[in-house]
Amino acid sequence: MAIKNVMVIGAGQMGEGIAQVCAQSGYNVFLNDMNEQALEKAMKNMEKRLTRAVEKERITESDKTDTLNRLHPSTKLTDAESCDLVIEAVVENMEVKTKVFSDLDKITPKHAILASNTSSLPITEIAAVTNRPEQVIGMHFMNPVPVMKLVEIIRGLQTSDETYQAIEEMTNKLSKVPVEVNDFPGFVANRVLMPMINEAIYTVYEGVSSVEDVDTVMKLGMNHPMGPLTLADFIGLDTCLYIMEVLYEGFGDSKYRPCPLLRKYVKAGWLGKKSGRGFYQYES
Ligand code: NAI
Repeated sequence: MAIKNVMVIGAGQMGEGIAQVCAQSGYNVFLNDMNEQALEKAMKNMEKRLTRAVEKERITESDKTDTLNRLHPSTKLTDAESCDLVIEAVVENMEVKTKVFSDLDKITPKHAILASNTSSLPITEIAAVTNRPEQVIGMHFMNPVPVMKLVEIIRGLQTSDETYQAIEEMTNKLSKVPVEVNDFPGFVANRVLMPMINEAIYTVYEGVSSVEDVDTVMKLGMNHPMGPLTLADFIGLDTCLYIMEVLYEGFGDSKYRPCPLLRKYVKAGWLGKKSGRGFYQYES
């Protein structure tokens, strides 16, 4: 199946990155959000990043113009009626996502593939609200999207081989590396990453070492570019807690128990870099 027209829903930090890389790779893209300010901000951010890429001679001025011409801000979900693929990147909330998918199922052409960028919610459950579960799939991009090479492609229980192949091919066209993953809690990326972050928080909670020293051990000892507590602050401590809850509930195994210190910070509103305070303090 030839994918030409794409809609990305949710113009937040992930959606704007996904829309940009799709437009840069030649796809015609609607970037949809219910919030006009979010759309305006996303369009400005994309233009800024493209201008910087021209200055650094990574792309030409005409590449930039062509990319911007392929990007269309949209506040109407009905714009998806001409799309071959929709990539949903709205908030990480099952109720919101299933509403979007059930609407899309009615709006999009029969052949259209519906993908979700969810980082932890079950694709099988999202697919179940549509009449085309074999055309529903996970496309889990990494943040920041224009920089990070990986896309986890998540096969729901009923995802067809044809859908998988179309998305794998598209991922290659975006100059990203696809990895095939089955639909289990946390997929691969977060199932491996989040327990490590949670364990790093336990070592601080139990007084084994300080925040800075835990990060130093992992940076200098394991050659990680960033310590796990710094990374947790960047991801957002609320997001880390949410994903640990998904793993804990999904597997029913105490090894995924979220650290009480993580819960306490989230309750206090210490959400990491975005709130100005997490394991570290940030300038506002
Ligand atoms: P965000 O909060 O920055 O953006 C979400 C956007 O969706 C907002 O602009 C909001 O106005 C819009 N929105 C909400 N409901 C909508 C609806 N019904 N219709 C249209 N627009 C709607 O969120 P972010 O961080 O971009 O995350 C989006 C998705 O990507 C989530 O599922 C998240 O789990 C996933 N993800 C996030 C990563 C990250 O590092 N932030 C990494 C990989 C995946």
